[in-house]
Amino acid sequence: MRVLVTGGAGYIGSHTLLELMGQGHEVCVLDSYINSSKEVLNRVRTLSNGHLTDHEGDVRHTAALDRAMDDFAPDAVIHFAGLKAVGESEEDPLGYYDVNVGGTLGLLKAMDRVGCGKIIFSSSATVYGEPVYLPYDEAHPTQPTSVYGRTKLMAENVLTDWAKANPQKTAVLLRYFNPVGSHPSAQIGEDPSDIPNNLMPFIAQVAVGKRSHLSIFGDDYDTPDGTGQRDYIHVVDLARAHVMALDYAASHQGARPFNIGTGQNYSVKEMVSAFEKACGKQIPTKVTPRRAGDIASMLADASRAKAEIGWSATHTLDDMTASTWAWQSTNPNGYD
Ligand code: NAD
Ligand code: WQD
Repeated sequence: MRVLVTGGAGYIGSHTLLELMGQGHEVCVLDSYINSSKEVLNRVRTLSNGHLTDHEGDVRHTAALDRAMDDFAPDAVIHFAGLKAVGESEEDPLGYYDVNVGGTLGLLKAMDRVGCGKIIFSSSATVYGEPVYLPYDEAHPTQPTSVYGRTKLMAENVLTDWAKANPQKTAVLLRYFNPVGSHPSAQIGEDPSDIPNNLMPFIAQVAVGKRSHLSIFGDDYDTPDGTGQRDYIHVVDLARAHVMALDYAASHQGARPFNIGTGQNYSVKEMVSAFEKACGKQIPTKVTPRRAGDIASMLADASRAKAEIGWSATHTLDDMTASTWAWQSTNPNGYD
C-alpha cells in the first residue's frame, strides 16, 4: 500500500516507518518537525535501506496537505501528527484543539479531495479518564480529564462521523496505553526536546547523568506499593499494530476503536527496579506529592485487537528497559 504518515518523524511514527517499509509498503512522511528532527528520517533510510519520501509541512495548512496528497496519492494515511503534553494542553487549549482536532479535520478534507478513504488514528487511553472499572475495554465510558484527552476524543468523534457518512471509509482508532522502549538497533528512540514529562525517558536521563534523581509523584495511591500503575507497551509492538491495522482497514469499513496495550501493568517503583537491572546503576528517587490529574492505575483489555486485528504484544518489560537504555546510552543527547 502507499501510506502517507503524518508526524512520521516523531517517536512512534519513526518506529512505524521501519515496520511499514519492512513489510514492503511505500511510505511518505508529512511532518512540520515541531517536535522532531530530520535526522530521524536519515536513520530510518539507513536502517531500512529503502526509499522514503518526505514533505515538510503542517497538517493545519491546506496547501501542504494538498501537495502531499497530489504528489504521493496515498491509499491510506496513518495520522500521528499532534501535540501530546498534558500539562501544556491545559495552558494552551486553543493550540491543542487547533492541531489535534483542526489538523485532523483538514487532513480528512484533503483525503476526500483525492479519494483516499482509509485512516489509522493515534488515539490514547487517556480518552477513558478515571476508571469506572479495570481493565478498560473499548466500551468503557470516555470522560477524559485533560484538554489533551478531550482533543483526542473529539478527533475520534470527527473520524467516526466521517466514516459513518460514507460507508466506503475506514477509520481505525488505536488507543495507545503507555509507549516506551526503542528500536533494537538503538539508532532511533524517544528524544524529548525539553524536560521529559513521561516516566521512562525521565528515568533514562537520570541513568545517563543528565538529571540528578527521579521524582516519584506520590506513594500513597491505592496500589500494592502506593505508586501509580500503568500498562507500558513496547514501541515496536505498537508500530506493528499500525501495520496490522492497515491490513484490517483493507477489508473493513466504518470507524472502530482498539486498545493497544499488554494487559499487564507495573508501578513506578517496579519500573525503576527494572531499569536499574537493565543499566546496572542505581536510580536515585525522591517521593514528591501526587501530580495533578494522575490516575492510580491504568490497564488495557486488548482482547479486541487480538480477535479482530490479530495483534498482541510480544515484548517483555526487560525488552522495554533494555532497549531504552541501549538508545539512551548510545545517544545521550538524542538526535543532536
Ligand atoms: P511526537 O511528538 O514524537 O511525534 C509527533 C510528530 O508530529 C512530531 O514529529 C511532530 O513534529 C509532528 N507534528 C506535531 N504537530 C504537527 C503539525 N501541526 N503538523 C505536522 N506535524 C506535526 O509524539 P509521539 O509520542 O510519537 O506521538 C504520536 C501520536 O501518538 C500523537 O498524536 C500523540 O498524541 C499520540 N499518542 C502518544 C502517546 C505517547 O505517550 N507517546 C500515547 C498515546 C497517544
Ligand atoms: C506514568 C507514571 C506518574 C513521571 C501520559 C499521558 C497519556 C499518554 C501517555 C499521550 C504515573 C509517574 C511520571 C515522573 C513519576 N500520552 N511519574 N515521575 O501520565 O500515564 O500518561 O503519557 O497520549 O495521555 O497522560 O504517563 O509516563 O507521565 O506517568 O512518578 O517524573 O509515572 O505519576 O504514575 P501517564 P507518565
